[in-house]
Amino acid sequence: MIEDLEWDDKYLTGIAAIDRDHKNLFIILQQLNNPRAGTVDFADLFDRMVNYVDTHFAAEEDMMLSFGYPDLENHRIAHKELAATVHQMADLYHTDPGAVSHDEVLGFVTNWLGNHVLKVDMDYVPYLKAAGEKPGG
Ligand SMILES: [Fe+2]
Repeated sequence: MIEDLEWDDKYLTGIAAIDRDHKNLFIILQQLNNPRAGTVDFADLFDRMVNYVDTHFAAEEDMMLSFGYPDLENHRIAHKELAATVHQMADLYHTDPGAVSHDEVLGFVTNWLGNHVLKVDMDYVPYLKAAGEKPGG
């Protein structure tokens, strides 16, 4: 359980479609952060996380490709690792729900926002803006 878990504008890239997706990931984290762990709907959250990694990462990569982002390959590798972990956790949940640790999933998504969204994603923002992506557009 994370105290005072509130959306913060430090997560904003200024690119509307990306920010909308990142807010959805934040909502998943808020739902995982339920103090009554037994009431968390893991089946639904894993469906949403799998859908997220399968669509959002591809959209981000297409955007980086279109702007010739020089660090695209490393970013792709980071996405592959995150996606593999999400798929593994979801598969494990579907075969043996009791084997999935609430704390582990909460820790994983917390790190995802703190290390990927706030660091790895923020690295592409100046390139995309320099290439003409309109903030909020
Ligand atoms: Fe990313």
